[in-house]
Amino acid sequence: MTVLVTGAFGLVGSATVRQLAADGRKVVASDLDIPANREAAAKLPSGVEVRYADLTDPAAVDNLISNVAPEAVIHLAAVIPPLIYARRELARKVNVDATGHLLAAAAKQATPPRFVQASSIAVYGARNPHRITDLLTSDTPPNPSDLYGAHKLASERLVRAAELDWVILRLGGVMTVEVAGLMNFDNMYFEGLLPTDNRLSTVDVRDVARAFAAATTAPVLGETLLIGGDDSHRLLQGDVGSAVAAAMGLVGGLPVGLKGNPNSDTDWFATDWMDTTRSQEALGFQHHSWPDLLIETAERTGWKRPLLRLAAPLAHAILQRRAPYYRAEGPYADPWGAIAAKWGDPSPEHL
Ligand SMILES: NC(=O)c1ccc[n+]([C@@H]2O[C@H](COP(=O)([O-])OP(=O)(O)OC[C@H]3O[C@@H](n4cnc5c(N)ncnc54)[C@H](O)[C@@H]3O)[C@@H](O)[C@H]2O)c1
Repeated sequence: MTVLVTGAFGLVGSATVRQLAADGRKVVASDLDIPANREAAAKLPSGVEVRYADLTDPAAVDNLISNVAPEAVIHLAAVIPPLIYARRELARKVNVDATGHLLAAAAKQATPPRFVQASSIAVYGARNPHRITDLLTSDTPPNPSDLYGAHKLASERLVRAAELDWVILRLGGVMTVEVAGLMNFDNMYFEGLLPTDNRLSTVDVRDVARAFAAATTAPVLGETLLIGGDDSHRLLQGDVGSAVAAAMGLVGGLPVGLKGNPNSDTDWFATDWMDTTRSQEALGFQHHSWPDLLIETAERTGWKRPLLRLAAPLAHAILQRRAPYYRAEGPYADPWGAIAAKWGDPSPEHL
């Protein structure tokens, strides 16, 4: 059984391809033909086939699907925050239109593949933790408050309407123990503008990969499943980055952001804690707790840890001056305003 993975060289894609290969599945990894992906392709597990395609091109998508004739498609390719806010047009083409091209090509196959769609808890929109206390479930009504949530919800609708078997996985905050690749200024600035008391369910990318691999065969057709870690992953946004930084040795290295406004139902980012009872029962993917993830991060940092520990005060001083709310006047975070000022209009598109 061939599994086609789109967005195969991204954070989730790389782990998913590795998981499928380790499970002995036949995998075709697809992504954009760019130098970084060519380099990554050279390091793939043996037996994994690579096919480059720009999914915004319907003819390329048709070719990809008819040549691979997959029994399952794991569709991960997307333009995600924060880049999505700077590239609205491109993002719609990738996040929504390309999903439509893939579904159309897949539904035309003599035996249409099972389609496993990557979605996000961003579909639920901003959730003020002072007023909303229930956990997210697949029955919680979606109510996107930004472009990303709107794109993800629109692509879910396309999947549900398609004439093939489907499963939708809504992911929480995906974490990796290979942090170095993700530590860039844009990502740190983005995390720094989110309300520190925003609730967030995180999940280890290797567990996300297990969930996607399992969703290609498990009896979960037509289900929408929430993919977060075990209860130890129910965290507050402000504690996530600082705990990872501390695990690497950068104790107190990150500046402290601002809390969310308890009196506003909109000035919150689109994350919350989720109930993963059903997804764990169906897919059995939770293998890495939050404390384990931190211990492994520390171990992987190895000899650099004591050096980073020494550098922490300097890192803090530099990053504080470049933090989103440096010298901010208000007492509360303004995540959407800060995103608009740095990247562009985050408001949802009506699709
Ligand atoms: N990372 C998270 O925390 C998170 C949370 C919720 C949902 N998700 C969803 O999971 C999926 C994977 O996310 P990720 O973190 O691995 O993202 P990523 O940005 O690391 O990977 C996305 C991949 O899509 C590819 N891509 C972009 N445009 C393309 C195009 N036109 N044609 C072909 N490929 C294209 C990129 O090259 C990249 O490799 C996405 O659908 C995302 O919305 C991620």
